[in-house]
Amino acid sequence: MTKVYDIATLPGDGIGEEVLREGLKVLSAAEEIFGFRSKQEALPYGAEHFLKTGETMPDAAFDRIRDMQAVLLGAIGDPRIEVGKLEFAIIAGLRFKLDLYVNLRPIKLLHESLCPLKDKGPEQVDMVICRENTEDAYAGIYGFLKKDSPDEVANQAMIYTRKGTERIIRYAFELAKKRGPKPGADAPQVTLIDKANAVRAQDLWTRTFAEVAAEYPEIKTDHAYIDAACMWMVKNPEWFDVAVTPNLFGDIITDLGAMVQGGMGIAASGNIHPGQVSMFEPIHGSAPKYRGLNKANPLATIMAVAMMLDHLGETEAATRIETAIAGLIQEGRIKSLQAGAHRTDELGDMVCEALRV
Ligand code: IPM
Ligand code: MN
Repeated sequence: MTKVYDIATLPGDGIGEEVLREGLKVLSAAEEIFGFRSKQEALPYGAEHFLKTGETMPDAAFDRIRDMQAVLLGAIGDPRIEVGKLEFAIIAGLRFKLDLYVNLRPIKLLHESLCPLKDKGPEQVDMVICRENTEDAYAGIYGFLKKDSPDEVANQAMIYTRKGTERIIRYAFELAKKRGPKPGADAPQVTLIDKANAVRAQDLWTRTFAEVAAEYPEIKTDHAYIDAACMWMVKNPEWFDVAVTPNLFGDIITDLGAMVQGGMGIAASGNIHPGQVSMFEPIHGSAPKYRGLNKANPLATIMAVAMMLDHLGETEAATRIETAIAGLIQEGRIKSLQAGAHRTDELGDMVCEALRV
């Protein structure tokens, strides 16, 4: 019997709708080729909906999504609306309310020409960052005292729970085991990235990492403070395989990673709770200045579709989408990942065509 997946689509703001349209185009090509189906339900949330109704994303929408298998998100964010309001309600809302504790961000260079680093190619840039996705400064515990006075005090808590820390670290070790050693390496490796020398609360990460690592003697471990990790990411990206890090540092280092792999045009991420409904999105924002111009690069969203299919168990389709994109880049048919280098719909069509051959 044909498998049917229930998928919520959430185009959101700015270029979200255009890039999502291309992602869904590739999804339907994959359905035809690989013989599965999706039942899609579009959700209207984002800036326009908020301006019309005053509603960000209602509880009923989260409840509806809990009965589905995946959410595919375009982009959220609009300059007309208070900083962070929609991002917090929708993106962080999905992450927190659905307990999507893994933010999986692969950093894989598909062709040397896309890398801004000297003498680095696909062999040197192939890692996965496991960003914790439900705690840290993102938990939203903050406040202001004596606001708007010269004596104002602002405070925001970075919180880490033993359970939250352990489950993401365990996920990273399991992922490393599944990936196996990188070419030329004798064992898979997990690097802990933290700042436990300054943020002493992250000693919880140090201790939990050591405990979990002891259960995986076949996996090598490494450690880098976040500042040094940023340096190594640029100087020696080949040193990373799987890395695990708290939420805020993971946010920052994956933008750096996105550049190393060729830019925001191609960087995708999965917000995952293994075995449960999960959300997939490009890492880039809503880029309002490109809205409606057919210039935005949809490849990051198409990569997010591939990650979603992998999560749903359609691993062959997922791999084929990735290799189709890699092939188009390697053949020089996709010349650049910059916005405007190709038309948005042209890139979607190219991936579909490459999938069909
Ligand atoms: C990301 C984004 C979000 C984050 C914003 C939009 C809240 O930058 O997904 O990396 O900080 O997590
Ligand atoms: Mn970010």
